[in-house]
Amino acid sequence: MIKILSGKEIAEAIKHEVAEEVKKMPTPPCLHVIRVGDDQASAVYVSNKIKSACEVGIISHHTHLPATITQVDLLEKIRQLNEDESVDGILVQLPLPSHISEEVVLESIHPEKDVDGFNPINAGRLFQGKQTLPPCTPAGVIEMLKRYGIVIEGKKAVVVGRSNIVGKPMAMMLLQENATVTICHSRTTNLQEITNQADILVAAIGKAGFIRSDHIKEGAVVIDVGINKVTDESLARELFDEDELDKRLKAIREKGFTLVGDVNPKEAKQKAGFFTPVPGGVGLLTVAMLMKNTLRASNLRRKKSAFNKS
Ligand code: GUN
Repeated sequence: MIKILSGKEIAEAIKHEVAEEVKKMPTPPCLHVIRVGDDQASAVYVSNKIKSACEVGIISHHTHLPATITQVDLLEKIRQLNEDESVDGILVQLPLPSHISEEVVLESIHPEKDVDGFNPINAGRLFQGKQTLPPCTPAGVIEMLKRYGIVIEGKKAVVVGRSNIVGKPMAMMLLQENATVTICHSRTTNLQEITNQADILVAAIGKAGFIRSDHIKEGAVVIDVGINKVTDESLARELFDEDELDKRLKAIREKGFTLVGDVNPKEAKQKAGFFTPVPGGVGLLTVAMLMKNTLRASNLRRKKSAFNKS
């Protein structure tokens, strides 16, 4: 019998724990979010982050800059926030307009305030198994596996996708938990042969419903990190079983799309032992882990500043 891993309960539990910690602090942590341009999805993500911060008692500020801002001006804004003692966490929402280098911008965020965990210093620390601010989505996956009591140690884990944001850090975190890890990607030959061996299969490729029954080992834990828009009713029919289909078709007719992960849910439900739904799975954890990282960044900076003063 398949078990659906709900992100909602875990995200609520994490946020509750963060809120309890925040209550004990003399002043709450402060998160500063920068959004550049008018990407609609980014606007929704940023408003979710600010709403969550408010729920857990973290102070949040939002700077919305025009898409025409120069890279120099954006870097100057980040420099000011890096130096601002009242700011614990800085997050620049991606994607950025094409004239701005994401790499340069992410490197400019001070590693101690890098609550997204995207700065190469934090990525390098993760790579070396040192304490770091970890990227929120893969950290959320590990948190979910642990809180559902799923053993990682000694298991074969396969990560499909090698992005800096999810695939690579996910593989490092699974390794840190003593899984035997394989990373697959768009050039992998015989993908099915590899994914079929996975006790834990993480899909982070950005292709709607790409992982099908043939990719999944009977009883595997299947973690779907993808968030894709499906606009086509016939594709929706391939992806959803009867219980779900009406709701999804209604969404396509009313909103123009429905959200789907990288795994075909209809097929995964028949093969996997555990499965994360989209929406309602890993996505909710990303924001909860951002709150946890902001609390952590704040605690680390306060400890360091107390140490420097003593
Ligand atoms: N865009 C999509 N996901 C993310 C994320 O986790 N962090 C940031 N900063 N931008 C994103």
